[in-house]
Amino acid sequence: MNLTYNQWTPAGWRKKPARQLPAYENSEALNTAEKQLSGLPPLVFAGEARSLQEKLARVAEGKAFLLQGGDCAESFAEFNASKIRDTFRVILQMSVVLTYAGSLPVVKVGRIAGQFAKPRSSDTETQNGLTLPSYRGDNINGLEFTAESRRHDPERMLKSYHQSASTLNLLRAFAMGGYADLNRVHGWNLDFIKDSPLGARYEDLASRIDEALRFMAACGVTGDTVPELRQTAFYTSHEALLLNYEEAMTRTDSLTGEWYDTSAHLLWIGARTHQEDHAQIEFVRGIKNPLGLKCSPSLSPDELLRLTDALNPENIPGRLTLIARMGQDQVLEKLPPLVRAIQREGRSVVWSCDPMHGNTLTSSSGYKTRRFDHILDEVKGFFAVHKAEGTHPGGVHFEMTGQNVTECVGGAQDITDEDLSSRYHTHCDPRLNANQALELAFLIADELKGASQHARKIHDSAAE
Ligand code: PEP
Ligand code: CO
Repeated sequence: MNLTYNQWTPAGWRKKPARQLPAYENSEALNTAEKQLSGLPPLVFAGEARSLQEKLARVAEGKAFLLQGGDCAESFAEFNASKIRDTFRVILQMSVVLTYAGSLPVVKVGRIAGQFAKPRSSDTETQNGLTLPSYRGDNINGLEFTAESRRHDPERMLKSYHQSASTLNLLRAFAMGGYADLNRVHGWNLDFIKDSPLGARYEDLASRIDEALRFMAACGVTGDTVPELRQTAFYTSHEALLLNYEEAMTRTDSLTGEWYDTSAHLLWIGARTHQEDHAQIEFVRGIKNPLGLKCSPSLSPDELLRLTDALNPENIPGRLTLIARMGQDQVLEKLPPLVRAIQREGRSVVWSCDPMHGNTLTSSSGYKTRRFDHILDEVKGFFAVHKAEGTHPGGVHFEMTGQNVTECVGGAQDITDEDLSSRYHTHCDPRLNANQALELAFLIADELKGASQHARKIHDSAAE
């Protein structure tokens, strides 16, 4: 199929077939909510989205690494300052581990401040003979299994907007107001991690960073002379799924006259909604934010190239991040043809690895879970493929929380199937807890060190 795309408008998606969108019963309430949203201030600015795209262009060139993580689904119930802070600090911890080991700048992007809408494999759910609409994320309906809670309610979009605004406000304060100062690197260690082997490993690394900072201060390099030492850039992202919300948040940038979706810096297309003639692709192709595209094992190289044409026709570096989520058993087989097709056609992309969504299973105790060793194997497979193809393993995308949950099995704490019930809080997919996330960062750091040594060797032998 060769599609020609017409002139783009923010509402153009409404004429396309669409999957995974809610069925709102009350169109008047929907119009009112959309109208209110479109009159509310933007959550992010176009200039910030452009600066993220520039940083992602560095990732595409192999000169930086992307770290994208957060909740599978944010919720109205689990919304408080400590939860936001703990997610932020685990991302900071992971980021220093990766920067230190990989000697590459890390671009930090949260699945946060807007990650509410969820695609579902079934439209309905049945419990004890009662069938109701599936839970689709707190911006559409409620998790509680009652007819009232599962009704698709457009007013929920306004509540998610306001929650996103407060979340972003706190994140901006953390990023710029001193919390992210590298001199506080010890302070990011969470109490419940401190006593674990990971905590000790982190403390050791933090002490080495302290030493380096003391040396730099003696040479006159401090947070006063180099602001990057006391503040950081932190970006937000979510799945571009609920287009009523995304359209209402889309505005023209007064500087460039271009369209930006001001609900987040980066928007990604999920694995279930990437049909090239459908609504979600139609919508995101016209916004200038950097984009992500989930790549599942069923995506063919030709389909990927057509989508790359649709989403990044001018081949702008940093515009498109391909997030491979193959599963540990398929990554070695399914990723190379995609990487080769992109290389062959000279496309500039960021390759990122989501080792979560291809590795979901149901435990013997009935919980939806993921095995830490599967997650790790997929990451290793991703690095191995890029090493073999001579391409940059650009980043990772994962579901985590700063809370001490028991949702994924394994890791140094050795969470078992039986442990899952003790602190299983997710509204959707199982997340890594803070310990597991940090452990993963150390393991990725080892891979990254290997990859940069390999790249240096290739560079040196080419220069000889
Ligand atoms: C997600 O990222 O939460 C998700 C649903 O992923 P995917 O679209 O890759 O299944
Ligand atoms: Co998920």
